[in-house]
Amino acid sequence: MTSREKHLSREYAAVYSQFDSPLIQKVRSEAFGEDIGQHSWLIANELREYLDWLSLSAIDHVLDFGCGPAGPLTYLVTHSEVTATGVDINAAALSSAQKRVAAMGLSDRIALHDVSGKPGLPFANESFSHIISVDVVMHLPDRKKSLAELWRVLKPGGRLLFTDACIVNGVLSDEDIRIRSHYGISHFVPEDFNESALASTGFTLQKKEQHSDGLIAICSGRWQTREKYKEELVDEFGEAAFKHEQTYLKKLVELYSDNKLIRYAYLANKPEEAVNR
Ligand SMILES: C[S@@+](CC[C@H](N)C(=O)[O-])C[C@H]1O[C@@H](n2cnc3c(N)ncnc32)[C@H](O)[C@@H]1O
Repeated sequence: MTSREKHLSREYAAVYSQFDSPLIQKVRSEAFGEDIGQHSWLIANELREYLDWLSLSAIDHVLDFGCGPAGPLTYLVTHSEVTATGVDINAAALSSAQKRVAAMGLSDRIALHDVSGKPGLPFANESFSHIISVDVVMHLPDRKKSLAELWRVLKPGGRLLFTDACIVNGVLSDEDIRIRSHYGISHFVPEDFNESALASTGFTLQKKEQHSDGLIAICSGRWQTREKYKEELVDEFGEAAFKHEQTYLKKLVELYSDNKLIRYAYLANKPEEAVNR
């Protein structure tokens, strides 16, 4: 693991190790309205929309690439008949995910894998009927290589659904980028970057929708709720951590409300006639 990857893992681990604390649970349930256990900019309504896009059936096996604590993944599995596999590079995320999966009685339908330090995914070609990846691609240093790996493990005719919250659409200052890159490794791309990366991998883009509104709602909800519980949060996690997170959330509301950054959801498919290269 490079030192930048270690930094990314440390920042996420700090969040994930507190994920199940009663105080964080209280903040989350007020801030999110409908808390589905996500650590992303995904609101429950969007996930329900994605379930329609994917139209899953009992024979499907879905991969969640960058599943985090498995909130969206467990929601997807309980609202369909699929089996699923979640992968992440963060041990704290997977430990929280494991607890969530067991508590929801889903251990026979969801497998979890730590893929940190691995050159590719530990799965055979064409293992999955569909792949989802919520707010992960911004962390991937070589998106085309990652897409090629997702292509490899996806069955022909399968769909890939992912979100990217780092599409640049305006002027960003060095400070904007520094604050937005809170978790470490972040990649900001122009409007048509994902379309051409998908096309060069062989995927056909079926749908692209702007989904910045959920991000703005989550950030402002979290900012306000955290202000409400400021004393408890400062007591438990310290003043510096509190301020740091508030600055981050406020900056995101500004950047996405001004459309300087945009979050999109993409649905692409691997054509039926596709062969692995
Ligand atoms: C914003 S979180 C989203 C988590 C989850 N998808 C959700 O919606 O709650 C991004 C996740 O991507 C994971 N991640 C980053 N790089 C990754 C990689 N190369 N392979 C797998 N997961 C990765 C991080 O550890 C983190 O858990």
